[in-house]
Amino acid sequence: MKLYIISNRLPVKVANPNGTFVFSRSEGGVTTGLDSLETSYEKHWIGWPGICVNKEKDKQEINEKLLELNFHPVFLSEAHIRNYYEGYSNSTIWPMCHYFYAYTLYKKCFWQSYQVVNQLFCDEICRLIRPGDKVWIQDYQLMLLPGMLRKVYPELCIGYFHHIPFPSYELFRILPERAEILKGLLGADFIAFHTHDYMRHFISAVERVLHIDFKLDEIQIGNRVVRVDALPMGINYELYHNASQNPVVRQAIDRNRTLFGNHKLILSVDRLDYSKGILHRLHGFSSFLEHHPEYHGKVTLAMVIVPSRDHVGSYAELKTKIDEEIGSVNGRYSTMNWTPVCYFYHGFSLEELTAMYYVADIALVTPLRDGMNLVAKEYVASKCDNTGVLILSEMAGAAVEMTDAIQINPNDSGQIENAICQALEMPAEEQKLRLQRMQKILSVQTVNKWAADFVNGLDMTCMKNDSLRKK
Ligand code: G6P
Repeated sequence: MKLYIISNRLPVKVANPNGTFVFSRSEGGVTTGLDSLETSYEKHWIGWPGICVNKEKDKQEINEKLLELNFHPVFLSEAHIRNYYEGYSNSTIWPMCHYFYAYTLYKKCFWQSYQVVNQLFCDEICRLIRPGDKVWIQDYQLMLLPGMLRKVYPELCIGYFHHIPFPSYELFRILPERAEILKGLLGADFIAFHTHDYMRHFISAVERVLHIDFKLDEIQIGNRVVRVDALPMGINYELYHNASQNPVVRQAIDRNRTLFGNHKLILSVDRLDYSKGILHRLHGFSSFLEHHPEYHGKVTLAMVIVPSRDHVGSYAELKTKIDEEIGSVNGRYSTMNWTPVCYFYHGFSLEELTAMYYVADIALVTPLRDGMNLVAKEYVASKCDNTGVLILSEMAGAAVEMTDAIQINPNDSGQIENAICQALEMPAEEQKLRLQRMQKILSVQTVNKWAADFVNGLDMTCMKNDSLRKK
């Protein structure tokens, strides 16, 4: 039996810098987390390969290469990227789900394209699946897909996981297509969220928009039920925890230590996104420098910002503001041998990244809203036998489990400033104790456990629906 994972993006992205196709790892929590998933099912993946190609010959070449990995590409046109991906997914749904109400754009062409692309995914799944296969749909770009599939295959076992926050009903109701979106999702047998609060918001939206009542975690629709659950996604704990034993990572650790050895290193890693609170973080760091001259020359903030969605207006504007703010902090405080903010506007290899996690004294993770935030978990896991402090926003889904982090409200730069001081002064024993307690959780709640729990929940619901259909 096969498990088809469906997500907007495949775990690999294709580029064509000089006439030949190059394949590399995709960024973002969903694909990174799920790619390392082990399951007893034969795992297949359907998604966009990250490039627009028009020639059939090119599509075939990409197709053949990806098929070796059980990846099945869905090719999107430039208009789809503009209206479905940059448009409805990332200028309507994303800001709405992250409580950026004022950034939410409504355009008919966005919505039309969203429907068309969800149908394209539906067609590709229908072409591939065989009786007994299961389908697991990921995330907000594909919320109509469960309903579309249900129409073609009334008995298909369909799961959906929502990786971003599900907002309160008061916000969700602003969406003109709120009913269609909810009906689309309810095509699934099993729907899960990272936190209990997101799940609660979803239930309340269904009850108030569609006027159907849940009985605890279940809702009856015709001759089947839809069940919901809260399942926080984990990481590949062993991969991060053992990374420092890899000779390549070791070398990078040594190099970083030489570079930052006599400084305390604060690390932040994000995709470029307004939901990540990057400017608020910079303001917090700036007020820390302003009020604590004793730390000048002794603390460096390494900011890794991975380019993302740069054709969406709000992202491009944010990039300019970040560049300006970093320039302003560095201009004000730099000396001949110290630059307070070390800014990287590109991604790093896994080896480089884990070496940075290992060396960093503090991880500063301050999103204004975040479905989960796997960086917080990766940082904690990477601390194999050393010290480190996680400063974490209360607004990240990860805050529910990572209670031994110093938790802050990212809207308050004073709290960021105080948390940095607290972290810098925290005794090594306390750092280790807090890390150990969080590592214990992460080593149990791994990405494999998360997926196994999801597939188990899906199986149970599908079995129940099979028997309901026979009645
Ligand atoms: C978040 C979303 C994912 C998305 C990722 C990267 O983690 O939940 O669905 O894939 O960001 O964003 P991108 O737009 O580059 O796919």
